[in-house]
Amino acid sequence: MKKFAVLGFGTVGSGVVELFYKNRAKIEQKAGEPLELGYILDLRDFPDSPFADKFTKNIDDILSDPEITVVAECMGGVEPAFSYLMRCLENGISTVTSNKELIAKKGAELLAAAKSHSCNCFFEASVGGAIPIIRPLHRCLAANEISAIYGILNGTTNYILNKMLTDGMSFEDALAKAQKHGYAEREPSADVDGHDACRKICILASLAFGKHVYPESVYTKGIREISLDDAAAAHELDGAIKLIAFVKQLEDGRILPAVLPMYVPHENMISRVDGVFNCVEVCGDAIDRAYFCGRGAGKFPTASAVMGDVIEAVKHHKTVFSQDWVDAGTQDFIAGIDALNCGMFIRFDAKYDSAKLSSFVSEYLAAHGHSDIPVTASANACLIPEPLAKAERDALLDALNANGMPAAHWMPAMEA
Ligand code: HSE
Repeated sequence: MKKFAVLGFGTVGSGVVELFYKNRAKIEQKAGEPLELGYILDLRDFPDSPFADKFTKNIDDILSDPEITVVAECMGGVEPAFSYLMRCLENGISTVTSNKELIAKKGAELLAAAKSHSCNCFFEASVGGAIPIIRPLHRCLAANEISAIYGILNGTTNYILNKMLTDGMSFEDALAKAQKHGYAEREPSADVDGHDACRKICILASLAFGKHVYPESVYTKGIREISLDDAAAAHELDGAIKLIAFVKQLEDGRILPAVLPMYVPHENMISRVDGVFNCVEVCGDAIDRAYFCGRGAGKFPTASAVMGDVIEAVKHHKTVFSQDWVDAGTQDFIAGIDALNCGMFIRFDAKYDSAKLSSFVSEYLAAHGHSDIPVTASANACLIPEPLAKAERDALLDALNANGMPAAHWMPAMEA
């Protein structure tokens, strides 16, 4: 028999407890032995909870119980979660967390502590909610050179963009609905301004490339500037606007991580991932591309990933099984956003003759060394599907402006 504890009885923590009791027989069968929930740590009182006898406010109750093998942290935020998990790891107790802020900021330290105390620090639930992506990336795909990862990593913003488009819902109403479903972060700007997606791409980038990528090193832009006009114009040009978090390896060996709204062509399945669903595309030299898709937020989808890690930690007790990356001591291996070569989706406020617009852009590009890019246009938007460097993009926008076609808004376009 092994015991585990849950830290935090909010949306995810309560989901973990409920899921454990609902599927206990199956969970114990998968773990290979009986499992008991020893404690729930929360500073609040839950006198009417069916689990009232499990609550403690003191982490020492958990640390001093020699039967505790795994602690599942679902509190959110860096402190006190970090201190609690470090103390667990230093006591040989494996940790599981859904806390992406914690792993994005302190992952290297936690992983090093797990390694030196022969236990595990798992965080499958920190990226993509229910989607298995951490374990596949560092185990199933371990034989690949990863060249890029792209994803919709924030369910709330994907849900908002979708509701605005399909139901004509206002931004505020869509956000309120996402909060009601338990998708949103406590502070909505973490979702809307891209910080949550940034933390998640930091984790995937660190895992894929072996060096800790800190959130401050990642260019991050949210969805506040996206208008219904952008979305409608993208739809007319066979695509969708999505908040994309990505990391790609550049030819000079550096990596470029970023979070920003992008035009995604309908040929790429990411464009068709709607609502709270997340999707991650992993590009590797052996696999070409693999897609991972599922519910990216919510009580039970996230609890599913936490509980999966608890089972894994029980099965691999005293064996270091967790993924690994190091703090490189510098972030010089990370390129800034200006190094990004990308296609362009350009929207205009005015309406033009679409054939003339596409000819203008095609001829401009041909005159500047890109004769074979298949430019498409509608009356108020234009798509350049192949990559241009920043200086080339800036020059094109200047040329459009000088010729009486000022862009209202442009976004990078993903490749199909
Ligand atoms: N607020 C996050 C989201 C929760 O919407 O994706 C899951 O990490």
